[in-house]
Amino acid sequence: MTRPRPLTAAGLLVAAALVVATVLLAGMAAVGTGRAGDPGGAGAARSAPAYTPSAAGTLRGLAPAGTLIGTAVDPRGLNLDPAYPGVLAAEFNAVTAENAMKWRNLEPSPGVYAWAGGDQIVDLARRNGQAVYGHTLVWHNDVPDWVSPDWPAQRLREVLRRHVTAVVAHYRGRVWAWDVVNEVLAEDGSLRDTLWLRKLGPGYVADAFRWARQADPDARLFVNEYGTEGRTAKADALLDLVRRLRADGVPVDGVGFQGHLDAERPPEDVRGNLRRFAALGVRVAVTELDVRVRLPATAEGLRRQAAVYREVLRACLDVAACASVTVWGFTDARSWIPGYHQGYGAACLFDADFRPKPAHAALLDELAARRRTGG
Ligand code: G3I
Repeated sequence: MTRPRPLTAAGLLVAAALVVATVLLAGMAAVGTGRAGDPGGAGAARSAPAYTPSAAGTLRGLAPAGTLIGTAVDPRGLNLDPAYPGVLAAEFNAVTAENAMKWRNLEPSPGVYAWAGGDQIVDLARRNGQAVYGHTLVWHNDVPDWVSPDWPAQRLREVLRRHVTAVVAHYRGRVWAWDVVNEVLAEDGSLRDTLWLRKLGPGYVADAFRWARQADPDARLFVNEYGTEGRTAKADALLDLVRRLRADGVPVDGVGFQGHLDAERPPEDVRGNLRRFAALGVRVAVTELDVRVRLPATAEGLRRQAAVYREVLRACLDVAACASVTVWGFTDARSWIPGYHQGYGAACLFDADFRPKPAHAALLDELAARRRTGG
């Protein structure tokens, strides 16, 4: 199993040269324009000291060839935080749109597409020499309000087919992989009770993969799930699902493990789990890694967090079929965690002032150690 090579070697060289310039220019531009504030609290602009890469290097600079180190991108950070674009460009060689490519955001009314948010991320990624991972085509969340659960199955199926086809076709050749279905399993491992399952039956999963394959035969197609990083019952069910789909000829190329983790309760045997999926002949990827700690964060909490980040990276690097480790945002300034997990936060590699945390140092250290030993 070879790792994906979404960027050419020449492209990466050019990109690496451009990154240094981008970091400097992004910082200068942001400072120079004094970006306007956003009164919306979480959307407010933040000022932070200029970012300078660690003397130890950057994540993308130390990543082994063929392994992508990515991050989710939040346009609020991109447009409001002076330090954000520079860190994004310097540290990561892959990006995922955190929200911009979700159906609700892409098609606010039937047939009217709002590509600007996703396009901004894709265009910036091209300038930064970053691969783009598409997120997400079929999900039970962020379905536009105009899609009615009362429609007959045939109409719902057609509208879903049109959505998958339009989005994959729009980004054809610019997105190397897609989360085709996201979070299709319930906690007990059965297919999750969603609008799609209720109205279209279990075949909607296979249909979505086939539609996506047709719209871009070169994009790698993933199923993406949470709570399956270790050897859980849900992971067993996911393994079974992927095995059955592939046996039926459904074009499932990869399995994404989200990795929304708690520093106090890390998953067990991530490496072994990734390996058993890889043995099915698919790629695997850590798609949404963050490691939350109880607030206020303590030095001990951040130390444990660093160990969990490092362990997940190790697991991926040890499995040849593991294409990427993507963090779900890189700064505590823009993380979804405090809004969803009460009492928790500080889940990212950089703090809210864009200072690298012990977890960032741990990842650099792991990557550097592998370089030294060639492992
Ligand atoms: O777009 C509005 C914005 O106009 C408004 O100012 C703001 C006020 O709060 O709300 C904005 O939308 C929110 C959006 O995040 C951007 O902040 C949505 O209400 C909110 O629901 C949305 O949450 C996202 C969530 O998915 C649901 O789509 C999170 O940012 C995002 O991190 C989270 O990501 C998911 C993955 O897609 C799938 N796996 C789990 C992961 C974490 O829940």
